Amino acid sequence: EKELFIQGTSEPLQQAREYVEKKKDEIISLKDRNRFHHMPEVGWMNDPNGFSVYDGEYHLFYQYFPYDVKWGPMHWGHVKSKDLIKWEYLPVALAPDQSYETGGCFSGSAFEVDGKHVLMYTGHTNPNPEDESYVRQVQCLAVGDGVNYQKYIQNPIIKTEEMPPHSSLTDFRDPKVWKKGETYYCILGSKSDENSARVLLYKSEDLIHWTYVGLVGESNHEFGYMWECPDFFHLDGEDVLIMSPQGVPEDEFRHKNTNTTVYCLGHLDYDSAHYDFRKMEELDYGLDFYAPQTTESLDGRRLMIAWMQSWHRNMPTDKQGWVSSMTLPRELTVKDDILYQWPVREIENYRTNLVRFEDLLVTGVQQLAGVEGRHIDMDLTVELNDAQRFEIKVMKGENQETTIAYDVDREVLSFDRRQSGSGIEGLNYREMPVPLKDGKLSLRILMDTYSVELFAQQGAHTMTSTVYADLTSTQVEFASDKEVKLTINKWDLAV
Ligand code: FRU
Repeated sequence: EKELFIQGTSEPLQQAREYVEKKKDEIISLKDRNRFHHMPEVGWMNDPNGFSVYDGEYHLFYQYFPYDVKWGPMHWGHVKSKDLIKWEYLPVALAPDQSYETGGCFSGSAFEVDGKHVLMYTGHTNPNPEDESYVRQVQCLAVGDGVNYQKYIQNPIIKTEEMPPHSSLTDFRDPKVWKKGETYYCILGSKSDENSARVLLYKSEDLIHWTYVGLVGESNHEFGYMWECPDFFHLDGEDVLIMSPQGVPEDEFRHKNTNTTVYCLGHLDYDSAHYDFRKMEELDYGLDFYAPQTTESLDGRRLMIAWMQSWHRNMPTDKQGWVSSMTLPRELTVKDDILYQWPVREIENYRTNLVRFEDLLVTGVQQLAGVEGRHIDMDLTVELNDAQRFEIKVMKGENQETTIAYDVDREVLSFDRRQSGSGIEGLNYREMPVPLKDGKLSLRILMDTYSVELFAQQGAHTMTSTVYADLTSTQVEFASDKEVKLTINKWDLAV
């Protein structure tokens, strides 16, 4: 078995590990990092990769360039956790050290097989940065023990030639693998030679020899030119497809970020790859959410984590030598044709200092004793009665505030960081349709040092955004034009 894998640690991997080791303490000890969202030790991070359970623990890898605060040839960073909240940093898992991946080890997935941790990822080469048509992407395997990973000696295992007819040779990436019965299946993001986005299905009995099954879907130029990071799973009777499309035209509320993320509900025919879907919806209406990936928890929950960032926006922590975070992992369920998202229940173990108000009548502008802070979990139910506009301002301080507002007439929830002090250029305001339920709006707000995750109507609608307000901006303020009735539970999160 040994000779099936490249042995030893390559120079580029060794170098990356040493670099991170040297730099990390200084950065990890910075006070103004997030407390319960995963961040890179140092440098740049994008997509979550290889989110999986191995040997009874959760593992998370990520697109990683430790040497700078911007994207560069991708490594796989690596952390693990017992409870999905506290992550332990592990040595860099993959570095681009083979001829088929000189441009980086791109996104992929992980799973446990016979006590081994198997990674499947994309090898990216870009021999002529002036001309993108030379880019090639192939699929590769690596196998490890939870810390060290060896690449399969006969990589790549899915080559460019194994793409379906009329494929663009430059875009073929982000394998997500799952097992059904005795067979492994893998979906990949790709596109046609005429820039129509595609998701492809492959299958294998041994993880090494893969055969193309068919097209799961194609955009036909109507829904973007490339579908990145597809994910697929069966949940509550539905075959759910998640993906991160590029180039989708925005509509009134949707697809406002550089690239969007969507979920589809439907049924997959495993023999033909035909995916009969009846619904597609944007996954998260926030300003920072991309490339989500899911796994199954130890106790059978479907969990999702995403990059809490949008492409091509400035990230103010770059001055400190690190950028970007992951979302908090979320539990997914399907009900009434909606994919619900809810913060993993493990976060509740870190709640402390409950402050509760029941049936409190609020008009005008009001602050509530004990309701403030930057690391909080707050759920509230608002009976809107005759009010037209209800607002919660968070991270409020001198000359700065972030506003969550509900417009009753339009049944629209908005998130506004234009006055937040973040200094982010570009999009800073978004709206999301949220129908009232029996005249009520329920919200859960999770705040970390630099983020606000919003879950409306029990997680039927979510909005996730970064906010880089001054650390002294900790006030929370409520406002309403007419009297509303409010029930609030607010905890500090002590992570
Ligand atoms: C998505 C993505 C993936 C790719 C990776 C490269 O954000 O573009 O498609 O594998 O990032 O870092």
